[in-house]
Amino acid sequence: MKILVINGPNLNMLGKRDPDHYGNETLADIEGRITARAKELGVEVDLFQSNHEGAIVDHLQEQSGSADGIVINPGALTHYGLSMRDALEDTRLPIVEVHLSDIDSREEFRRYSVVAAIAAKQIKGMRGQGYIEALEYLASRPKGGERE
Ligand code: DQA
Repeated sequence: MKILVINGPNLNMLGKRDPDHYGNETLADIEGRITARAKELGVEVDLFQSNHEGAIVDHLQEQSGSADGIVINPGALTHYGLSMRDALEDTRLPIVEVHLSDIDSREEFRRYSVVAAIAAKQIKGMRGQGYIEALEYLASRPKGGERE
């Protein structure tokens, strides 16, 4: 099983962003934990981050054919990234949407996600642990299961 783990704009700056929302871990710290857990689960992970919506679309088009699921934190694209949303839907793969912060208890504009309706699951407010939960969910999920 191969899982694409994708991080969107500004997530390369974790560690320097507001720790009250995003914690103190860097993206490298989080990706290290994901890689370690993936090994334990016997899952292959492909790690990707971009600040550019088009680069995420390209990546999804190029890589989804060989993947079994997607873990994505789209950053601010969550709230308006419709070309990314369509590319995600076109993969027809199970998607877990991850947010480090609790997007529902912040500014109004963060409450709406263009991805939520096509995601099997949304995990928010768990900092870096959310990615681990997402990986575990996809690794244990029977193929073709319902959205949560
Ligand atoms: C985020 C929440 C988004 O609203 C924000 O734009 C981000 C990070 C999160 O992980 O909590 O960049 O996706």
